[in-house]
Amino acid sequence: MLEQFKKDVIEGLSKITQKTLPSKYFYDKKGDRLFVKITRLPEYYLTRAEMEIFQEKTSEIMAALHLEKGKKYSVVELGAGDGTKTIHLLRALIKRNCDFEYLPVDISINALEGIKKFLNAELPTLVVKPSHNDYFKALENLKQDGTIKIILFLGSNIGNLMDDHATEFIYQLGSSLYQGDKIILGVDLKKAKEIILPAYNDDQGITAAFNLNLLDRINKEFGSNFIRANFIHAPDYDEEEGIAKSYIKSLVKQTVTFQGHVFNFEKDELIHTEVSRKYDDQVVKQILSKTDITWEHKITDKNNLFADYILQRN
Ligand code: AVJ
Repeated sequence: MLEQFKKDVIEGLSKITQKTLPSKYFYDKKGDRLFVKITRLPEYYLTRAEMEIFQEKTSEIMAALHLEKGKKYSVVELGAGDGTKTIHLLRALIKRNCDFEYLPVDISINALEGIKKFLNAELPTLVVKPSHNDYFKALENLKQDGTIKIILFLGSNIGNLMDDHATEFIYQLGSSLYQGDKIILGVDLKKAKEIILPAYNDDQGITAAFNLNLLDRINKEFGSNFIRANFIHAPDYDEEEGIAKSYIKSLVKQTVTFQGHVFNFEKDELIHTEVSRKYDDQVVKQILSKTDITWEHKITDKNNLFADYILQRN
């Protein structure tokens, strides 16, 4: 993990035309906490919009899943979250007398323990089987268990992948599933810059702290000397392209030493740290077209900010 992180930093900061650092390293303890704060910000509509879908449109989700009587199901959530969205679906499944278990998959033991505790208290009859594993390893372990899978990949987490990688991800998901298995894919929708950009540039500066925490984390883990005050958070959204991008901008011409490597930054030079893809039907269709997964149903919140696509393995 640390070796890979080091490699990724050196490779990303050595790039000539555009320095980069991968967004997957945002999530240390501090980063986790800041992300939870982001989901509660007035500007960050994504979490609330998807919550509304799970709360208000539970029966539409249930209908789209075409549950079969007498079959056993596994609800597998990729990225455990805090359970507050998923619980609405789990409750509906219990009420329908569906025979199922809930399997949250995450690389954070903390997140898994949190969700298990929450669900054991709220839904005492529900069997919760946390899996501390890589998504695809967890799915491989479940492949032969004879249950119909309902895979949840929510929160526009897929948005951190460029389309070619998202396609690869969905393709690989398909190869871990059998015909008739379902996926609920939550994605943020394309919309005006005036709405999207503030979600990545909030007034309280929480998103800025989240982005810049990456420099603190690198300093902490590798003893490098990024001076945090010499950098600022610089987000951007291009409506045409439909991708929100976060950068860290160097305020001055400066030099940073990392593990014996010296990196020069020009004044105003950008480090690209994150993509947050925004979707429409066309983008989703384009991604699915190269996979064994087909579109069944689309559910949006009342303001059309966010969508949960119900997909099926062919
Ligand atoms: C967790 C990837 C869905 O892209 O909206 C929030 C992460 N980054 N604010 C997103 C994030 C900055 C978030 N995802």
